Amino acid sequence: MKLILIQPGYFSHLLKDDPVRPHLSENFRLSGNRLCLALVCGNIKQAAVCVALTCKVPKNEIELERFSAGSQGDKNPIAIFYTIWSYKKGFGRKILFEAVKWLSTNKTHVKRIVTLSPKNNVARNFHTKNGAIELSVNKDSVNFEYLIEHR
Ligand SMILES: CC(C)(COP(=O)(O)OP(=O)(O)OC[C@H]1O[C@@H](n2cnc3c(N)ncnc32)[C@H](O)[C@@H]1OP(=O)(O)O)[C@@H](O)C(=O)NCCC(=O)NCCS
Repeated sequence: MKLILIQPGYFSHLLKDDPVRPHLSENFRLSGNRLCLALVCGNIKQAAVCVALTCKVPKNEIELERFSAGSQGDKNPIAIFYTIWSYKKGFGRKILFEAVKWLSTNKTHVKRIVTLSPKNNVARNFHTKNGAIELSVNKDSVNFEYLIEHR
């Protein structure tokens, strides 16, 4: 099993499976300070997560786009997990923690892990069960935060 960085034409077909934000384009997800990761075993897909590196915590998709705009060279300190889904029970949790580890190695400027989540029980149960705190309840979203050790 390995965690891969999705690129155009390399596992990017998985992005069409996103059940949380199906309207977001591949171009949005893979441009600016944004990236997507997938957990795969050979060609078998297990889970995927999309992350935006931002300067501030967004409350909606407009802010998500605005706060993660710019070149890949930016040093935005907040990783926003704005969608996560699994193909097999248990792998949502697995990719969450693998993605946190990947960021600590590959994006060393990231200091916070925060979500932009829909207001529903799936997101709430999933994130609180995995140890996140509820940072902010907004009009149409919730931000959960995973407190990580500072390097
Ligand atoms: C949320 C998700 C990623 C979790 O996947 P997973 O880690 O592979 O594991 P599971 O499906 O075993 O769910 C883990 C926990 O998530 C929560 N959960 C999952 N499905 C749920 C549902 N339909 N209603 C309420 N809580 C749910 C529960 O806390 C569950 O733990 P439990 O089974 O012990 O009650 C997966 O259910 C999924 O892909 N959902 C659709 C997309 C989504 O809603 N993503 C989260 C919002 S960003």
